[in-house]
Amino acid sequence: MNRGLTMKVQVIFYSMYGHVYRLAEAVADGARQVAGAEVGLFQVPELVPEAALEKSGAKAARQAFAHVPLAQVAQLPEADALLFGTPTRFGNMCAQMRNLLDQTGGLWVKGSLVGKVGSVFASTGTQHGGQETTITSFHTTLLHLGMIIVGVPYSCQGLVNMQEITGGTPYGATTLAGSDGKRQPSENELAIARFQGRHVAEVAGKLVRGARG
Ligand SMILES: Cc1cc2nc3c(=O)[nH]c(=O)nc-3n(C[C@H](O)[C@H](O)[C@H](O)COP(=O)(O)O)c2cc1C
Repeated sequence: MNRGLTMKVQVIFYSMYGHVYRLAEAVADGARQVAGAEVGLFQVPELVPEAALEKSGAKAARQAFAHVPLAQVAQLPEADALLFGTPTRFGNMCAQMRNLLDQTGGLWVKGSLVGKVGSVFASTGTQHGGQETTITSFHTTLLHLGMIIVGVPYSCQGLVNMQEITGGTPYGATTLAGSDGKRQPSENELAIARFQGRHVAEVAGKLVRGARG
């Protein structure tokens, strides 16, 4: 068995105010801890008009990750594992992420993403505002594309933290932005995100070695 094989991990997110971006960086950091993982961080294109972004303060917030390259549909098949990050919109993924996924029809026809690892992380404004529904409804699309869903196992200690208000689910890492967006991802939430990135890369590595090794 060739244990020196590399695997490609793509972390693809949308963020309006930066919370999902911070989770995405932690997820990518976790994936980079795995030997052989080549990790790329990408964002999906914005759909909201400039004037609306300006008015809501999102335009300024989005400057913090303006340097992150845009994800292209054509790059998805190059990955062995894809981790998607989205803020909640009424308990579902955001339209910007949906827009990327809705351009994968050609990949679906060819089965280009079949057997790849898929994983999701998310952010909500409020504690019970739809973290789990956002992630598990996202999984439906990944299953249609033939992906193997990986979440966060309970071997991740942060999931059982009852000492503080915290995001983090067995379906994927999460954060709580607060209804005014002022709360930033906590250390517990970032640790869960790093765990998810590492775990997904480890699982992808096992699959890649099994297929090629
Ligand atoms: C149109 C819209 C719908 C939203 N729906 C929800 C919701 O259902 N539940 C919730 O807790 N937060 C909701 N939010 C808050 C966002 O999820 C929150 O702003 C986001 O998680 C922050 O992440 P970001 O900084 O990466 O954009 C909504 C925000 C917008 C703009």
